Amino acid sequence: MTLQKDSWGTRVGLILAMAGNAVGLGNFLRFPVQAINNGGGAFIIPYLVCFLLMGIPLLWVEWSTGRFGGKHGHHSTPFILDNMDPKRAFWKYFGVFGIFTNVAVAAYYCYIESWTMSYVMHSIMGTFRGMSQSETADFFRSYVDVQHSTTGIPFEAIIFYILCLLLNTWILSRGLKGVEKAASIGMPLLILFGVFLAIRGVTLGTSGATEAHPNANALDGLNFLWTPQYDSLTNPKVWLAAAGQIFFTLSLGMGSIQCYASYVRSKDDIALNAVSAGFMNEFVEVVLGSCIVIPIAAGFLGIDWVKENAGFGMAFQTMPYLFQNWGPMIATVAGVMWFGLLFFAGITSSLAMGTPWMGFMRDEFKFSQKKGAWTFGAVVLAMGLPTVIFYNEGVFDEYDYWAGTVSLVVFALAESILFAWIFGMDKGWKEINQGGDIKVPLIYRFVIKYITPLLLLAVFIGSVFTPAGNNWNEAIQSLFSGNGWPLDNSSLIKMLTNAGLKEQLAAASDEQVISTLKTKIFYTNVARLLLLSLFVGISILVYIAYQKRQKRKHQQA
Ligand code: PHE
Repeated sequence: MTLQKDSWGTRVGLILAMAGNAVGLGNFLRFPVQAINNGGGAFIIPYLVCFLLMGIPLLWVEWSTGRFGGKHGHHSTPFILDNMDPKRAFWKYFGVFGIFTNVAVAAYYCYIESWTMSYVMHSIMGTFRGMSQSETADFFRSYVDVQHSTTGIPFEAIIFYILCLLLNTWILSRGLKGVEKAASIGMPLLILFGVFLAIRGVTLGTSGATEAHPNANALDGLNFLWTPQYDSLTNPKVWLAAAGQIFFTLSLGMGSIQCYASYVRSKDDIALNAVSAGFMNEFVEVVLGSCIVIPIAAGFLGIDWVKENAGFGMAFQTMPYLFQNWGPMIATVAGVMWFGLLFFAGITSSLAMGTPWMGFMRDEFKFSQKKGAWTFGAVVLAMGLPTVIFYNEGVFDEYDYWAGTVSLVVFALAESILFAWIFGMDKGWKEINQGGDIKVPLIYRFVIKYITPLLLLAVFIGSVFTPAGNNWNEAIQSLFSGNGWPLDNSSLIKMLTNAGLKEQLAAASDEQVISTLKTKIFYTNVARLLLLSLFVGISILVYIAYQKRQKRKHQQA
């Protein structure tokens, strides 16, 4: 086996790359929406608890398994996991998740990233100047309705998607150096833009109130988020959402952290690096992420509007309109900064999603960096075009659910058990602390062994059996009174059977609605078929790689 000598250029480069991996669209688009939908201050405490009991421990687990794998020449999870428990053959197929998730998430993630590129251009061109609130929102709706779009350049959504993939592929083809360079340019700019917009957000006060929205006050937005409400602590729904957000935002359960960490030299610190990158992500998320969209929208439209309209469309449908209140000059600057910030957040994450595939193809099939990058781009394009063209038919959401939510929990649960119980805490603890610039508090030995896997199990079970209306008390009562456990349509079991869509279909009478729903069900199944094929395809590659390894072993013996 040839050990690759590739490693990160500098420590700052590594931390910026890792922080860039974590800091992403999740921080600015997903976090505010999750926080609002789960009661603002009611969300924050479970969120922070999940960060401490699940986020930080898993960061150490992933960084240390990654570096451990790198020591043995493995740069992607199939053989990193295999190497931690060589006796059992199935781990390498669990490891498939660590490549699969990245490719599948990249497919739809790069689509949002491509919107940000287009919106930077439109901000500069002044496209939104003079548009009303609903016109700005319609612009977006038309943009993503690729098959009938009338806004912008013809097929703009597709063109920008391809441009965005080309850019990602080109940077990836330059290897770690390219990634490090992108992070060292992107991260500082992102912080700069973020701070500017955040200052704008928190100093807006009541100056944006108008006759139509007389009670608008930016501070209401911040108060809503930051006034803790302790009664939420007993609500499993909020806990599930908080845990899901922690996963997504820290890029846990994906395989990309292990891949980045596999290029850390074996004597270098990970104990401190892991927390530094993690805290950097949390700073960007809870400070910058909460000081932009919510206060600005609350400052012009009022907090009630924000609560009713929370959704990730706010960023694209409403922000460009609100910026116009500051006059054409600042509107342009703010637009470029806001969408530029989203772009940098996005690209430093999507680059991370390319590296596990590249690492795997290089380790096992001797692919060059270039070949690895271009094949990644091609697979993502094939997986991604359906999300672009059939966005309104639900392909995007389907990818986000299975690859961007469920897979993360399944994989994290498996790896935390492997790490703490099979690889073993004695070895594991040594791996975490080796070369460490800090001593990890001993309590985390206990947390990693018991608390984190149990929490993960709880999250997993909670998502499989989510009760009707997310009402756990009622479901428990129903169970005890012999009426069974009422499942919600958002529970994994019901999602699997498309129960929600089928219910709507059964209730529909309008021809048009019926045909739309039928199309949706069809495309939902197509999306699943694509995801399944991707997973099986990568598993086959892992199998072939394994056979090759066995052969080599025999030849050497
Ligand atoms: N953490 C990124 C975000 O917050 C998303 C991501 C997931 C990036 C997985 C890399 C790998 O948007």
